[in-house]
Amino acid sequence: MTDRYAVVGNPIAHSKSPEIHAAFARETGQDLTYERLLAPLDGFLETVTRFRREGGRGLNVTVPFKLEAFALARERSPRAERAGACNTLAWRGTHWFGDNTDGAGLVRDLDVNLGVALAGHDLLVLGAGGAARGILAPLLGAAPRSLTITNRTVNKAEELARVFAALGPIRALAPSALRGTHFDVVLNATSASLAADAPDAPPWPDTIYAGAALAYDLIYGNEPTPFERRAHAHGAVRVSDGFGMLLEQAAESFLVWRGVRPDTAPVYALLRGNRPRSPG
Ligand code: ATR
Repeated sequence: MTDRYAVVGNPIAHSKSPEIHAAFARETGQDLTYERLLAPLDGFLETVTRFRREGGRGLNVTVPFKLEAFALARERSPRAERAGACNTLAWRGTHWFGDNTDGAGLVRDLDVNLGVALAGHDLLVLGAGGAARGILAPLLGAAPRSLTITNRTVNKAEELARVFAALGPIRALAPSALRGTHFDVVLNATSASLAADAPDAPPWPDTIYAGAALAYDLIYGNEPTPFERRAHAHGAVRVSDGFGMLLEQAAESFLVWRGVRPDTAPVYALLRGNRPRSPG
C-alpha cells in the first residue's frame, strides 16, 4: 500500500508542500502520497487522529499548530525541544515522534545554496515569535561572531536571548538601539509581511541593511517581499526570500520519514519558474 503523508494547517490551500514532496518522491523513487489537510482551528488533534486511523505515516505541521504538534509528540528530537515547536511528525508504531526541521533548512539554504558564511560573522534576527525561536539554536550552532535579536516588543527578544545564552554569543537590542550598527546577515523572522495591514515603517532603522552581504526573509512569495524590497533599497548587497528554506526543511522532513535526502536543486528550478533567486 502506498504510504500517506500530508501537511496540516489553517489556512492550507496555498501550501506548496504537496508539489515539493511529490517532486521529491519522483526523484528518489519513493512510493508515497502527500496531501493538504485543513484542520479547524480547534480541531488539530481530531484531524491528526483521523489521519492516523486512515493509515497516515507522517505530517508536516504549519501555522498555527506547531505548538500543539509539540505537545502531541511523545518522543521529540533535541532540536524540536530547543525550538519548543514541531513542524514534522513521524508515526513510530505506537506514538508520534516530533521534530523541527525549520532551522536546519534555513542554515542549509544560507550555507549550501546561497554560499553565505555565518561562522565569524555578525547576524541580526528581526522578530522574537515562534519563527525566530526555531532558528536561533541552528544559527548559533554555525558559530557566528555575534547574533543580535530585536523585536517590536523588546522584552520578548530579551527573553529569547536569556533562553539561548548558553548556546553562543547572543544579545537583545531594542529597535532604536540599532541605529549605527551593521551586520553581515539580516534575517526577517517577523510575520509583518503577512499582515494585510503591514505598516510602511518598521520599528527598526533602515540603516541596518547597509552593506549586509545578505538580507533574508523567512517568508516567500511570487514577488519580492516588502522586507526584500526595503533591504535592497537600503544597501543590502544581496536579498532572498525563504523559498530555499521551505525546500530544505521539506527535504529534511523527507529524510526523517524515508531515510533518503532528496536533491533540492532540480525542484527549486521546477517550482520557482521565473522568480529570480535574488532581485539584489
Ligand atoms: P511566528 O510563529 O510567525 O513567529 P508569532 O509567534 O506570532 O508568529 O510572532 C510574530 C513576530 O512578528 C513577533 O516578533 C512580532 O512582534 P511582537 O512580538 O512585537 O508582536 C512580529 N511582528 C508582527 N507584526 C509586526 C509588525 N507589523 N512590525 C514588526 N514586527 C511585527
